[in-house]
Amino acid sequence: MEYDLIIITGASSGLGKEFARVLAGRTRTLMITARRIDRLRILADELTAAHKDLTVICQLCDLSDSSDRDKLICKLQQMMHGRTLLVNNAGLGDYGEYSCAQKERVRTMVQVNVAAVAELTHALLSRLVEQGGDVVNISSLAADIPLPDFALYAATKAFVASFGEGLRAELRESKVRVLTVCPGPVHTEFGEVARRPGQERRDFFLRRRFYTEAKTVVRDSLRALEKGRTRCYPSAKVWLAGCILRSLPLWFLRLVLNRRPRRVVSQPLKSS
Ligand SMILES: NC(=O)c1ccc[n+]([C@@H]2O[C@H](COP(=O)([O-])OP(=O)(O)OC[C@H]3O[C@@H](n4cnc5c(N)ncnc54)[C@H](OP(=O)(O)O)[C@@H]3O)[C@@H](O)[C@H]2O)c1
Repeated sequence: MEYDLIIITGASSGLGKEFARVLAGRTRTLMITARRIDRLRILADELTAAHKDLTVICQLCDLSDSSDRDKLICKLQQMMHGRTLLVNNAGLGDYGEYSCAQKERVRTMVQVNVAAVAELTHALLSRLVEQGGDVVNISSLAADIPLPDFALYAATKAFVASFGEGLRAELRESKVRVLTVCPGPVHTEFGEVARRPGQERRDFFLRRRFYTEAKTVVRDSLRALEKGRTRCYPSAKVWLAGCILRSLPLWFLRLVLNRRPRRVVSQPLKSS
């Protein structure tokens, strides 16, 4: 048993659900959060059936709502006794040009992808330092490159990566490890959520070859955490892509990005 408490945000699907399945055997108490509480309960039943000594707490929380975040933080602070792992996983994207994005989606992305990560980490950090524990933040390969048609999402993930690096350096004398995970594309509900109404699904050959299994992302992330790494690019192809992207000079990136094919055709939204 590595932890007394593990908290995973966004555990109702995709990577969060996979993290919950793998981490269930490494803690006494697991708190899983999301808006779709019915899904969390089904997952909790599955996990408690597989792990007899495990207590699973399903916490309904809309991370885009600051009062919901405060309630979650309050509950977590009361529950923290001993080694704790916080997995900041919840996140969402928005495909299409930024000028056509819906105002509500813009706000939600900033709240969930940025504010929730910053606030949850801040609220738990002093106890993590005192009692021991780790933080895993889910960023993206998109953190390494400005992305037209995905500009805000890539910027929020660049925040997560930069935040993780800074925090890691601040905490180097403590026992708290901070890992930033930068997955490439993974088959989850992410694409469906990010697509705007009426947008077609377009998967190009190269992108199709580039997918990583959710299981691989979780396995590589937890191995990286055990080894005390600062950043993890799950799977060799994503690691290589990250190395190449980070080595490119900005002038060259701009040249390529300005000549990009218009992959996402979107109609301006009147309600924005
Ligand atoms: N899939 C990819 O290709 C990919 C690649 C790189 C990085 N990532 C990152 O990986 C993380 C997990 O994404 P995924 O691929 O597993 O996508 P997913 O299947 O869509 O899961 C997203 C999770 O976030 C939760 N979430 C979304 N909005 C929320 C809100 N307002 N309040 C609370 N929870 C919310 C969702 O739960 P509810 O809807 O039930 O609230 C869901 O559990 C994200 O941070 C994403 O940016 C994904």
